[in-house]
Amino acid sequence: MAIKPLFQETMPFRSFRLSLRFILPLALVVGLFAYAVVPLVDGMTQRWFVRDLDARSQMLAGALQGPLFDYLPQGSQSKIIQLLDRSVQQDGRLFALALCDADGAMIQKTVMFPAALRCPATQTSNELRQAVMKLPQGSLHVTESPLVLDSQYLGNLILVHDMGFIEKRSAETRQYIIALFALLAVVISLITVFIAHMSWRGWISAVKGILRREAVARPQSNPSSEIRPLVGDLRALLHELNVERRVQASAPQPWSPERLRTLLHDELAGDEILVVSNREPYIHTHTAKGIEVKRPASGLVTAVEPVMRACSGTWIAHGSGDADRDTVDRNDRVAVPPKRPAYTLRRVWMSKDEEQGYYYGFANEGLWPLCHIAHVRPVFRSSDWDQYVAINQRFADAVVNEAHTDDPVVLVQDYHFALLPAMVRGKLPKATIIMFWHIPWPNPESFGICPWREEILEGLLGSTILGFHTPFHCKNFLETVDRYLEARIEYEDSTISYGGDLTQVEPYPISIAWPDAAEQPDIAECRADIRKNLGLPANHLLGIGVDRLDYTKGIIERFQAVETMLERQPSMVGRFTLVQIAAPSRSSLEEYQNFESRVRLLVDRINQRFGSDRYVPIILKIEHHESDQVNRYYRAADVCLVTSLHDGMNLVAKEFIAARDDDRGVLVLSQFTGAARELHEALIVNPYHIEQSADALYRALTMPEMEQCERMHSMRSLVKDFNIYRWAGHMLLDAARLRRRAQVSAKIRSHSRKSLRRVV
Ligand code: G6P
Repeated sequence: MAIKPLFQETMPFRSFRLSLRFILPLALVVGLFAYAVVPLVDGMTQRWFVRDLDARSQMLAGALQGPLFDYLPQGSQSKIIQLLDRSVQQDGRLFALALCDADGAMIQKTVMFPAALRCPATQTSNELRQAVMKLPQGSLHVTESPLVLDSQYLGNLILVHDMGFIEKRSAETRQYIIALFALLAVVISLITVFIAHMSWRGWISAVKGILRREAVARPQSNPSSEIRPLVGDLRALLHELNVERRVQASAPQPWSPERLRTLLHDELAGDEILVVSNREPYIHTHTAKGIEVKRPASGLVTAVEPVMRACSGTWIAHGSGDADRDTVDRNDRVAVPPKRPAYTLRRVWMSKDEEQGYYYGFANEGLWPLCHIAHVRPVFRSSDWDQYVAINQRFADAVVNEAHTDDPVVLVQDYHFALLPAMVRGKLPKATIIMFWHIPWPNPESFGICPWREEILEGLLGSTILGFHTPFHCKNFLETVDRYLEARIEYEDSTISYGGDLTQVEPYPISIAWPDAAEQPDIAECRADIRKNLGLPANHLLGIGVDRLDYTKGIIERFQAVETMLERQPSMVGRFTLVQIAAPSRSSLEEYQNFESRVRLLVDRINQRFGSDRYVPIILKIEHHESDQVNRYYRAADVCLVTSLHDGMNLVAKEFIAARDDDRGVLVLSQFTGAARELHEALIVNPYHIEQSADALYRALTMPEMEQCERMHSMRSLVKDFNIYRWAGHMLLDAARLRRRAQVSAKIRSHSRKSLRRVV
């Protein structure tokens, strides 16, 4: 559960809280000092009083000796006792007196004389003997004063003083000293806080002065010496904000590889970029014709590859091709793309068992169905989790090994590496880690069924930036952390503080690289070729579906919609065909095998129901297609069907739009894709509502050219601007801003600590 502030902290309260940081240690030091000083002063004043009593007793004994030398030889007992009693009554501090004879017998004593005190046995010396004695009635000062007349020892006069008044005065002194120290602590604290406050204000106004001067582009007048060390960093920060503002203001200028490269050069100059993903962008395989290189069917690869081409760096991924080991150097690296190398692919290996547990098991039987609402139950096994942890650690070690600096920019991709950000953060605390989650993030209840939910959240919170496709997924993530971790969440800023680290959670809608029109094949040629190859007449209406063979893609629902459309619109029978390209995917999992069987059975049934010798309503191609082949289908089609049951973004929708430079063709798009939040001119459908999708398909096939053109034109201009370079550019700009901010705030912290130390 997140700890939320109960109230908004006001300025005076913040000043008070900051002041306490100085006052409390100061009060502690003064307190300790008082604790050590009070016993010292106490002892000293006691010694002074005792010495005072010694002198007093001596004087009193001297004064009494005269009359006693007269009375003793006379044996005048009544006069002696009168003398003793009178002396005690007249002297308020004298507690008691006693007179001993030469044989050590007590011959007279006043009433209060303590019974515990005895006469000295015989004459020991002619000197006064003084001592402090603790008796039940309190501390007493006792003086034995020998009475010697003409060298004859007559006895001993014992004077007893009560020391109670000394203790009373000591206690009073102690109280005065403590009060004095308390007053001193308060005065010093107030002066310190006052001076610190004044110098803080001076410092802040100096910073504000610089910001104002820089904002209006006035040359920097002489900054105060206090602020001088920060001037460079503040300027850099302002420059960065200006760049960002310019970037936003210059929206019409399209994002391109060049613009991304310039941004990297200006904002992350010299910083190394490392990408981590499970799926590699180039797979080497052995074929009858020798080693061939394949591009996988992966939205992630489609999006990130152009970015890597633009910014170089190193991409760390699983070497999954059977010829991968034969194509790397001794450091497991290979330069790619093969024809025009632009960056390094570093391959990481894993055994079949590891792949089974980490990739097929935890990632694809656990997290994949957990994050997609497609009504497939996630499966969680401890053995899969162990492999997932181990492989995340292996990739994190690879990141650390590949990094040449201690603060690289690491772009971590997808649900295969939820633990990696925290692992890398542990080894490279200064790294800027951007984690992008390419699939949806579920609501807290759904996510809560994962037995390792806390570990996954903690792993992700090692990131500097955590990106999702949509604000809705960000919100789900914040709420999930709120539910399961003790973290501080700032909903307004979309940040999470956990374990001393701050993670920014932001939506970055992913996209594609806008194709070069000059390299596109001719549309009419594509239309004609594809139809010819499929054995269809030239004017045949063609629908296209392009997906991995995955239960989240709504392929069954799509076929059912085709069936319903043919049923409701008999005129379309014989005139419309859907070509479904389905790239085999995760096919060693039972769920995917079952799915494939269901798809094949359904196609057979529909084709039997509506097909004939010359007509096939659905052509299913379960095989890998290279991107230029897919592009030809997009250009040849009249309608593209994207009916995912749940999808982070879905790049097929954007690829189809990018391919249609003739402004023709209609996109039917599931409302449960991230793309539906941007592509409002598509025909948006609920794929679970088969009749609705069937009607949308018919509407698409019969849409007037003008309307097609308007819709396509609008979507094309959006995808062209909101392309993959913009996606990467915004993430990297945010990273650069946070990087700069971290550097500046580290400096400000150390600088303000130093100046406050100087003040104190
Ligand atoms: C989705 C995932 C990607 C993944 C792709 C292909 O788009 O978000 O991370 O690469 O599917 O799946 P595969 O398991 O073949 O890599």
